This record gives sequence, structure tokens and C-alpha cells, in this order.
Amino acid sequence: MREVEGRAAEAYRKRFDADPEVVASAPGRVNLIGEHTDYNGGFVLPCAIDRRVAVAAGRGEGILYSADFDETRPLTPEEKNSWADYPRGVAWALGEAGCAIGPFRAAFAGEVPRGSGLSSSAAIEAATALALGALFGLEVDRKDLARICQRAENEYVGVQSGIMDQYASLLCHEGAALLVDCRTLEAEDVPLDLEGAGLVLLVCDTRVERGLAGTGYNERRRSCEEAARRLGVRELRDATEDDLPKLSGELLRRARHVVTENGRVLEAARALRAGDYASFGRLMYASHASLRDDYEVSTPQLDAFVECAREIGAPGARLTGAGFGGCAMALVEAGRAEALARRARERFSACGFREPLFYRFLPAPGAEVLVL
Ligand code: GLA
Repeated sequence: MREVEGRAAEAYRKRFDADPEVVASAPGRVNLIGEHTDYNGGFVLPCAIDRRVAVAAGRGEGILYSADFDETRPLTPEEKNSWADYPRGVAWALGEAGCAIGPFRAAFAGEVPRGSGLSSSAAIEAATALALGALFGLEVDRKDLARICQRAENEYVGVQSGIMDQYASLLCHEGAALLVDCRTLEAEDVPLDLEGAGLVLLVCDTRVERGLAGTGYNERRRSCEEAARRLGVRELRDATEDDLPKLSGELLRRARHVVTENGRVLEAARALRAGDYASFGRLMYASHASLRDDYEVSTPQLDAFVECAREIGAPGARLTGAGFGGCAMALVEAGRAEALARRARERFSACGFREPLFYRFLPAPGAEVLVL
């Protein structure tokens, strides 16, 4: 058992005075490239990180306990707006999908930073879904579980997120990124041997926290739908650069980001397969510029980190996740990561930004479940 799984199991024993029947855990993710493309039917390329949310569960009286908050919440909701909405939403969405689940109790422990854009919410959803699947003997494959988790997030929590985070958490494998076609929902591993190439992913958490419900996320999504409608295509996935002159102003910028980003993801996957990290890194910088200038979801902090990465000669850097705060990430030579973190810390301090946090990640395993 991993440490975080042990903590969830221990919390279960303490809180419920019994042994859990199952323990599951699921990782957060970083997205290497392909931002705001998933809800446009496009392509994404995330990988799982070695920070997880764990749940220990058993049949019982409908109680949820968080070891991190030391807080108990009923499974049947009172008012919404807490960590408990995610497991409740998953239980609800499983029911909607026709899965028979009985009352259960569960204890949670997590190590994915919350509100940073590393998908702590998908991790808690994925861990819950896998645990309930094992607890109640559901025969649901992981792709369907991911869609059920997405439905929980969309309809229960109220964020119109795409499928990327739940797919990444449930389907990623160690040492690989996951190329997902968000229309067909096909997913394939793209081997990512960063260690072999002497590289790491250095993630900079700007600590500008946000829950997506309170940002322009849903509004961006609506703009994309409007742009697709005006272009007469089903989704922006179907638009090409030749279509763009039919749009203007804000809709043009939003659509241009999505169309060019989809192209970058496919190129990036080809570059990774060829071990061409220099090209991959250039695509990361281009993605950031597009998110900053066309999609307008960057912040001064995210831009500052990407600039620092460029200054020290990192092959690539970009914001990762939805933007509006949260994290940026650089692909950097292992021996230069510390220098980049130092430079960014100094830059943030000089600009009067909050002191950032740094994490180094290698592509980690996806969700796992243990039946005890
Ligand atoms: C959030 C959403 C994802 C995706 C990204 C932006 O992480 O949950 O579905 O849309 O933003 O790429």
C-alpha cells in the first residue's frame, strides 16, 4: 500500500471502528499539451503524476469522512460546496448509469494539491468510482467509469469540464503520456522516458487558487460552441485554419487557439514518439502563447514562470490545466531544474507575487484498487 492509501485505511478504521473492504487511489495529472481542446472534440496529451487521492470504503451507513479536513459529511447532501460533492456526485452518476450501488461509508486522504489545476477533483472522483465498482461488483470498464465521473462533475458539481482529467486519472500508465481523441474517446499510450532523456517536468504552482466553477471556464466553453455554430461545424474539432477568417474579434481568437492547439497535440505526439524533445518543447511554448494571447486564460504569474524557463534555456514551458491561476510547467534538463526554480522564486518575489511551490514529476501510474 502506498502511504496515502494507508492513511485512508487508517482514517476509515478510526472513524468507523472497522476494517475497510476496499482501498482505491487515483492520481492527479499534468497536461503536456492540448488545453481547452477536450470539450471541443479535440486532442489532449496528459500524464498522471505521483500525487494521489485515496479512499477506503465499505458497505455501511452513508457517511463520508475526510482525513485531510478531519470532517464528516453525510452521503445524502445537505447544501453543496465541499469536497464531499465529488464522491456524492459519483454515487449519483453511477445510479444514473443504471449501476446498483447500496449505502456505503468512505474515508478519504489526499496528496494532490487542491485548486492548483492538477486535477484533485478528478482524482477523488476516479478513486471513488473505482472503489464503488469493486465494492458493489460493478462490471463497468474504465472508459465508462471516466464518463460517469465526468457526468458527476458536469451535472452534480456544475463545472462543464471535458473528459481529459478523468481519462488521465483512470487510464494513464507509468512512463507514458496518454493521447486521447476526445471525440471517439480512443486513447493510446505515448512512451515518455524523461529520465532516459535527462529531463524532468518541473511544475510551478503559482498558488493563485481557483475552483473552476468561479472562473471564465464555462464562458470559454460557450464561446467555442458559438464559434462552431457560426462556422457551421459540429465542434471546433471540425474547423480548419482556412475557416478562421469567417470569424472576428473574440470568437476568432478563441477558435484560433483551439484549431491550432489540436494541430500542436498531434505534432507533439509525433515528436515524443521520435524522442525529439526540442520540437516538443517548441510546441509547448507555442501553446502557452496561444493560451495567453488568443484564449486569454493565462495570468502574470504563469507568464513569468514561462519567461524564466525560456531565459534559462529550458526546451519547453507552458501553463497546464485550465489556467486562470494554478500551475505552469517546464520541460527542463534535470540538472537545471533547481536553477529554474530559484530564478522563478526571485522573479515572483520581485513582482510582489505569492511565493510559488515547485514539484518535479515523472509520468506515474493511473488509478488502482485493492480488495482487502
Ligand atoms: C480543466 C478541465 C478539463 C480541460 C482543462 C483545459 O482541467 O477539467 O476538462 O478542459 O481544464 O484543458
